[in-house]
Amino acid sequence: LDNGLAKTPPMGWNSWNYFRCYDVNEEVIKETADAMVESGMKDAGYEYVVIDDCWQALERDDNGNLQANPERFPSGIKALADYVHKLGLKLGIYAVPGTETCAMHWDDYPSGKIGSYGHEKQDAKQFEKWGVDYLKYDWCRADVTEGLEHIPAFEKMRDELQALDRPIIYGISEYGDTKPWEWAKPIANMWRTTSDIQANWGSLMTILDQQVGLYKYAGPGYWNDPDMLQVGNPGLSETENRAHFSLWSILAAPLMAGNDLRHMSTSTAEILSNKEVTAVNQDLIGLQGRKIRDDGDKEVWMRPLANGDRAIVLLNRGQKETEMSVNITDLGLPQSSSTYYVRDLWAHETTQSTGEIQASVPGHGVQMYRISPADPVEASENVQHVKTSD
Ligand code: GLA
Repeated sequence: LDNGLAKTPPMGWNSWNYFRCYDVNEEVIKETADAMVESGMKDAGYEYVVIDDCWQALERDDNGNLQANPERFPSGIKALADYVHKLGLKLGIYAVPGTETCAMHWDDYPSGKIGSYGHEKQDAKQFEKWGVDYLKYDWCRADVTEGLEHIPAFEKMRDELQALDRPIIYGISEYGDTKPWEWAKPIANMWRTTSDIQANWGSLMTILDQQVGLYKYAGPGYWNDPDMLQVGNPGLSETENRAHFSLWSILAAPLMAGNDLRHMSTSTAEILSNKEVTAVNQDLIGLQGRKIRDDGDKEVWMRPLANGDRAIVLLNRGQKETEMSVNITDLGLPQSSSTYYVRDLWAHETTQSTGEIQASVPGHGVQMYRISPADPVEASENVQHVKTSD
């Protein structure tokens, strides 16, 4: 969406993956915002603190306005927005185009007519008044319950947000059901490409496989969203966390942490705050990484970066450690060189290579590198090729 926002994939945190419905409250949100600053995540680029489903009271007020759940958010959303803004962060919130939220359909949450259906303008204005900076607009079952069609329903809320004076990032989700990458570029800043992520290796790999071929649909202001991070949640090992974070970064995915930032291990904090990896995610040219090799359990993913460097992830989907190698000349670097710098983004070490990178990759793990010519020789033919293929 061309609204001047999300020129790089949004970075932040969202309450759903860890706190789900009943455990999200204003203390959690405030403490999470504090932790985002104290852990170094803010320094690494994280900005949005997003309250997912279940923040609402089950009824609108007498004027039809949405209200915060009085038990869990007694101070209201405006107070939370103020708190988060004072820390130099931004606040996100959750709404749906139908009448009931997803938790009401699937998580046994009591029902209430608090969806934005018929209240789109009113809700957009309410979010603006509260100081909201990001909206996650989640389909749930609006086609079944209200007979809505995806595109006009998502356009409606986009138009109401565009009419406001406040910049609000617009992220939509319909779980990839109707190939939103083919239609959502003029509608949203990001769109979910799959159903919900779970904190296990199988879920990560299923989602990864669904990203193949989608790189051509993303760019500054409009991103494929393979769902929020599970890094640091029970169910993933440290090696798997590193793989998850590397892959989502090379995919130019929004990096929305989904763990309990208040009680995370040093290892989790270090993974989420690895600035060499987030720099790949936030690269300004905004080209999404793609799979360039697939040998069964061994895959190579590559992302061209703004300065001509290449980021690569060597992924081992198998359980046992394995050797992998990549020929640098296969990466389409715009400049040729007799030697290359190979920066290991997890070991934080640079080596030189004359053409081949060899690495041992742990089971369910990755190695991630940034490759640049050590001694660049302009190869005009290649430069031309890169320009025309943009
Ligand atoms: C859907 C979404 C999740 C989360 C829940 C909330 O399942 O895909 O990300 O927002 O709804 O109920």
